[in-house]
Amino acid sequence: MGSKSGRHFLQIPGPTNVPDRILRILSRPTIDHRGPEFALIAREAIEGLRRVFQTSGAVVIYPSSGSGAWEAALVNTLSPGDKVLMFETGYFATLWRNIAVRLGLQVDFVPGDWRHGVDPDLVEAKLTEDRERAVKAVAIVHNETSTAVASRVGDVRRRMNDTGHPALLMVDTISSLAAIDFRHDEWGVDVSVGCSQKGLMLPPGLGFNAISEKALGASKSARLPRAYWDWEPMIKENEAGFFPYTPATNLLFGLREAVHMLLEEGLPSVFARHNRHAEATRRAVKAWGLELVPLNPAEYSSSVTAVMMPAGHDADALRKTILNRFDMSLGAGLGQWKGKIFRVGHLGDFNDLMLAGTLSGLELGLAVSGVPFSRGGVTAALDYLSCNR
Ligand SMILES: Cc1ncc(COP(=O)(O)O)c(C=O)c1O
Repeated sequence: MGSKSGRHFLQIPGPTNVPDRILRILSRPTIDHRGPEFALIAREAIEGLRRVFQTSGAVVIYPSSGSGAWEAALVNTLSPGDKVLMFETGYFATLWRNIAVRLGLQVDFVPGDWRHGVDPDLVEAKLTEDRERAVKAVAIVHNETSTAVASRVGDVRRRMNDTGHPALLMVDTISSLAAIDFRHDEWGVDVSVGCSQKGLMLPPGLGFNAISEKALGASKSARLPRAYWDWEPMIKENEAGFFPYTPATNLLFGLREAVHMLLEEGLPSVFARHNRHAEATRRAVKAWGLELVPLNPAEYSSSVTAVMMPAGHDADALRKTILNRFDMSLGAGLGQWKGKIFRVGHLGDFNDLMLAGTLSGLELGLAVSGVPFSRGGVTAALDYLSCNR
């Protein structure tokens, strides 16, 4: 590829754009991870992460991708053969299911159409019929990045409570954390799974678990083998600002800075900004005459928008054209949606003009690719942004 002028538009739904303020912190000299300066930084990063998860309980930070944090949630709380209730909301829910199966758990994987989130009625029905209390955990994806569908976690919890069933609730917040309102404590989530490269505006490399008292209790008797992912030594060493093995030193500097940025803006404003950009994006899509993947407006995601390609047109060809011609990366369709949809990431370090550029790149791309569409999407989005400050 020849050299390009101007900057690349990274509009995949994570890893997201890393702001200059964080890039500068990441480039600081690495320090002794067993020294006093590091301990202060690590404790502040952990405390800050608690605020982002909206919890006063334990959080642990692994040098890992999000998948590691998925595995950690399961191996710390469950035993071989335990029954887990999961929902096929899309590609990532399926990958988490696959990990659970490989670990020797018995997964009841409720089929889905990859256009809807978790149905709280169905959670209630499944738990009500489980009279032996065999289900040990319900594990769901808050924001299914592959479909742009956000499940209603608070409603799921309420329905679980209505049944009086003691199953743990585990939630993947990987593409919702710090972008879409997520309340670990208030919603009674037992294990929340997160990572660094999406709403937190960091490069990949950190995986998180936020852990309730109930989940900590379950970890005392859980028998799935665990070593690297074991919460106990992590939580113990973290008290003094240290880790049982070498932490991702510079990413923790970055995490502390990211939390400062989020709290300076205020979490409610961060969520409102994401809601606003998502709504503007959906208005553009509708004005283009294209179809959104999610079918229920109550489940629209605020961090990513997924768009169906008109029949007979390949989403990957459109993405390729947009990358080559306009230097913008868009998210691919994954699994059953490969080639059929494209995804626009609008989360993390993002503002009105970045959105305007993104949507302009898309409108240009649709035009030069010969995809049938109506012009005016960018205008519809700008109208919305200018009337909704
Ligand atoms: C919702 C969700 N869960 C899990 C993952 C897996 O995370 P990782 O690729 O960091 O292992 C992703 C990745 O995009 C995701 O979007």
